[in-house]
Amino acid sequence: MVTSTTSQQRVLSGMRPTGLVHLGQYHGVLKNWIQLQHEYECFFFVADWHALTTHYEESESIDERVWDMVVDWLAVGVNPGSARIFVQSRVPQHAELHLLLSMITPLGWLERVPSFKDQQAKLHERDLSTYGFLGYPLLQSADILVYKAGLVPVGEDQVAHIEMTREVARRFNHLYGTESDFEAKAEEAIKKLGKKNAKLYRELRRKYQEKGEKDAIEVAHALLESNQNITRGDLERLYGYIEGSARIILPEPESLLTKAAKMPGLDGQKMSKSYGNTISLREQPGEIEKKIKRMPTDPARVRKTDPGDPEKCPVWKWHLVYSSENVKNSVKEDCRSARMGCIDCKQYIINAVIEELAPIRERAEEYLKDQALVKGIIAEGCDAARDVAEETMEEVRQAMGLHY
Ligand code: TRP
Ligand code: SF4
Repeated sequence: MVTSTTSQQRVLSGMRPTGLVHLGQYHGVLKNWIQLQHEYECFFFVADWHALTTHYEESESIDERVWDMVVDWLAVGVNPGSARIFVQSRVPQHAELHLLLSMITPLGWLERVPSFKDQQAKLHERDLSTYGFLGYPLLQSADILVYKAGLVPVGEDQVAHIEMTREVARRFNHLYGTESDFEAKAEEAIKKLGKKNAKLYRELRRKYQEKGEKDAIEVAHALLESNQNITRGDLERLYGYIEGSARIILPEPESLLTKAAKMPGLDGQKMSKSYGNTISLREQPGEIEKKIKRMPTDPARVRKTDPGDPEKCPVWKWHLVYSSENVKNSVKEDCRSARMGCIDCKQYIINAVIEELAPIRERAEEYLKDQALVKGIIAEGCDAARDVAEETMEEVRQAMGLHY
């Protein structure tokens, strides 16, 4: 595993511009982001180019979906004071890195990514035999590597993309991190650590290279991270020197697996716009009530006097998200003994969702009224993202010999 100083603290994640955010995305993804923004340096972006890899025929409404999504991010508490919020296509460095990485990425790696065949089958009404669709995981790799992100919060379906990103980074470092006088330069860099730390670094390197002790790498990384005196170039050399003979220009990220969606959609399937089973964060109370009242319940419970089984009921999954222990216990007992009817059972959920969404809707309305504010936040996020991305690109161009 190869990570590096700043990047270990850096989190990056993207979301396709799907428009109004729904409860599934909020509980499954955004709550996690909100937590992470306090713990790490976070970059969250709207993956608008990614949307085009599958929906290139519907590009005219993309801007609306982008703004709706960003407003909802802000309304739930993704905080521009803690996290950089930006739009992918405003940071062209993603595209430049994607292009350069495409030169070294074997076609087989892309064809083997499970989502390639899965999505082609699932979205069979679209023609996805395009260059952009095949390259989509590599665009994602560029998204991540251009920030040298260490941690990438993603769902299960994206883990293979992070795995491929690690392979691409490794290949890049292997191809372009080598210098003819690498060893001499690394030895010079070691000396700059100071006598004591230099000795320690050498011991750790020996431990790893001769005995394969993985812990030694981590200790060495901590040692390098605490050192203020050496340049970035030297740091990259010393990261690479422990493990082999190349500089680490693009560190390998790790996925931070977001647990499977806690709450299903209104019909019990995964909550997704394409299934028409969502409640959006800006839904009006009357609409929330109507939708929840229509939710299917345990199919065995035809009459109120029939006992039910919460395990077979999608409403129960919502109780797991929204209800107190007390309510959950009484629902379990009273459903099984047919003392509680489904209408009463659902009322708890209706109240909880309305209460949860009221302040979010209010904040969303404020942001909607002040478009300039939202645009300003994004512009600032894009500027900050571009600065970091450009720094990486300068190193990448240099390493590939594109320095004129
Ligand atoms: N591919 C992701 C999705 O479809 C979105 C995405 C694009 C992303 N680039 C990313 C996620 C980089 C994490 C990191 O959900
Ligand atoms: Fe589902 Fe509640 Fe009805 Fe039981 S009482 S079947 S948990 S809605």
